[in-house]
Amino acid sequence: MKTIGVLTGGGDCPGLNAAIRAVVRAGIRKDCETLGIRNGWQGLIDGDVEPLTDFSVSGILPKGGTILGTSRTNPLKEVRDFQKIQQNMKKFGLHAIVVVGGDGTLAAARDVAEKGIPIIGIPKTIDNDIVGTDASIGFDTAVTTVTEAIDRLHTTAESHHRIIVVEVMGRDVGWIAIMAGIAGGADEILIPEVHFTMEEVCKNLMARYEAGKKFSIVVIAEGAHREDIGLPPVPDHIRDECGHEKFVGVGNLLGKEIERRMGVETRVTILGHVQRGGSPTPYDRVLATRFGVAAVQLIQEGKFGTMVALDGYRIRSVPLRDAVSRQKTVDAGFYELAKLVIGGRK
Ligand code: F6P
Repeated sequence: MKTIGVLTGGGDCPGLNAAIRAVVRAGIRKDCETLGIRNGWQGLIDGDVEPLTDFSVSGILPKGGTILGTSRTNPLKEVRDFQKIQQNMKKFGLHAIVVVGGDGTLAAARDVAEKGIPIIGIPKTIDNDIVGTDASIGFDTAVTTVTEAIDRLHTTAESHHRIIVVEVMGRDVGWIAIMAGIAGGADEILIPEVHFTMEEVCKNLMARYEAGKKFSIVVIAEGAHREDIGLPPVPDHIRDECGHEKFVGVGNLLGKEIERRMGVETRVTILGHVQRGGSPTPYDRVLATRFGVAAVQLIQEGKFGTMVALDGYRIRSVPLRDAVSRQKTVDAGFYELAKLVIGGRK
């Protein structure tokens, strides 16, 4: 009988529990028991674990968030933390760790794996920015949530003849903005990958207005460039300790600027963490289940230092080092597609 550890790290998202359940249940079929590690890497450092059974994972499939809790702890920040991890691997008889995480957690997983700990990664992130996999757990649900919000905002924007700016998540990439923007029929989509000018944004919106559409929906990713709105870059003192920009509401800045330039009443909706909450879509439940089962299979095969990935319809494995080598940015084809179907433009 082998013992598998499973942890969830980084920002939560819908579908994490479905992956945990799949690891536990597939493990049981392969004569493995599973220990849940609480609060990401922190639980492995502290030895904070709980046995997960067929019974204890019953009913968690449709639940958002993670029953294990999460954190953004870097397991290699202190040498003694890694020593504690090694001790806890022995103490709990852990044969391998399944790490469900986004880019930060998986980058740590790569480093920990390179130090000799047997690790299998499972990609999760609403941002969809992990290379080597066509999809990550949580993205489909986030796009569904944002699309529903855009549908609702459409009716009120139309009734009041307003422009509504919708700010969505996406620190470095605009996947949520582009997909939900296309699905929700947005009239302008602004993402970090593509620079824009206020002149062209307002020209496009004005063309719609003059064509008789007295309302518009503008979707902007939180990581879109402030400089494009005519503002200076964020100064260093409002960056977090990893050097990440602390977002101060690019949507509000854009809304003000549109209203100032066009004289059309503009409102701003920042969707924020609504995008990370709630029950996973059927797609995310199935994806998470497939990833969890595949992770156990990779443990059986001893293919450590890898991440499960979706390749078309197939599940395969890729080296963790490749998966965290760069970010998956929005494919230019989707951006072109969005431009082709936005109304009121030549
Ligand atoms: O990485 C996922 C993500 O949802 C980003 O899109 C967003 O910028 C970030 O997490 C917000 O994280 P938190 O508020 O939990 O620190």
